Order: sequence, then structure tokens, then C-alpha cells
Amino acid sequence: MKDPVTAIIRKYDNDRSQLVSILQDIQSELNYLPRTALDKVSKKMNIPQSQVYAMATFFRAFSLNERGKHIVNVCLGTACHVRGGELILDSLERQLKVKTGGTTKDLNFTLDSVNCMGCCATGPVVKIDDDYFGHMTNDKVESMLNKFRE
Ligand code: FES
Repeated sequence: MKDPVTAIIRKYDNDRSQLVSILQDIQSELNYLPRTALDKVSKKMNIPQSQVYAMATFFRAFSLNERGKHIVNVCLGTACHVRGGELILDSLERQLKVKTGGTTKDLNFTLDSVNCMGCCATGPVVKIDDDYFGHMTNDKVESMLNKFRE
């Protein structure tokens, strides 16, 4: 079986200065940064484990926990908050049966919150992967999720 981590390290020629890019590529390949992958990066690139983990935990975009196929981000920035962003988040937690930061059992969704996505006029806003859903209401949550269900 092909080992994506080794292939990614090779792609960057074992260049230690490319550690962030290597971690980004691993995450986009595996959807998160498994500990086994971080350990492999440390060993193969001869970088102390502590340094690899420090980098992996420094950036919020990296996740050390298994994530769903689709990432659901609910905006809780001021403009979305005053328009009911919290209620949308509650509704998503109920529908997906996970708390914020959690991943559904079927690994289809990870639910998270963000502070402002730069489209405040359309708040409250939910982003799933690269799709934005503005003027979100509790009534629209289920049909929005259905677009990402197999
Ligand atoms: S506050 Fe939600 S997009 Fe700006």
C-alpha cells in the first residue's frame, strides 16, 4: 500500500524549512494529522518530535484529531452572533449529535465555529468545505446538511 506521508516528504526533498507545507499536504491527504504521521515526519526528516508537534499544534488549521469528510464552520463573529449564529450552532449540534469541535460517528462531518468569514452582511453564515450558506435559519439547516450526505 502506498504511503502518502513518505511520498509527501520526498516531494519536498526532505527540506526541513518546508515543514508547514509538508504538514499541510499530509492534512489535505488524510484529513487530519495522525500521530503516526507526525512521528514518521520526525523520524524521516530528523526533526525532534517536540518541534513537529509544536508546529502541528500552533496553527489552528491543523487538527490532531480525526476529522469528518466535510468541515462545517458556523460563524460566531459579532455580526453573525447578533443575527442568531449561536442558535444555528445549537441546531447543528442537535442534528449532527456532536458538540462543537466534534466529528460525527460516520466521519461525514466535523462541526466547528469561527470568528468572521468576511461576509457579515449575509449573516448568520455557515461554511461547509468551500461553500457559504448565508442568511441561515434553523429551518434551512437540514436541507443544507443533506447536500453533503451520501
Ligand atoms: S461576523 Fe460572520 S461573517 Fe463576519
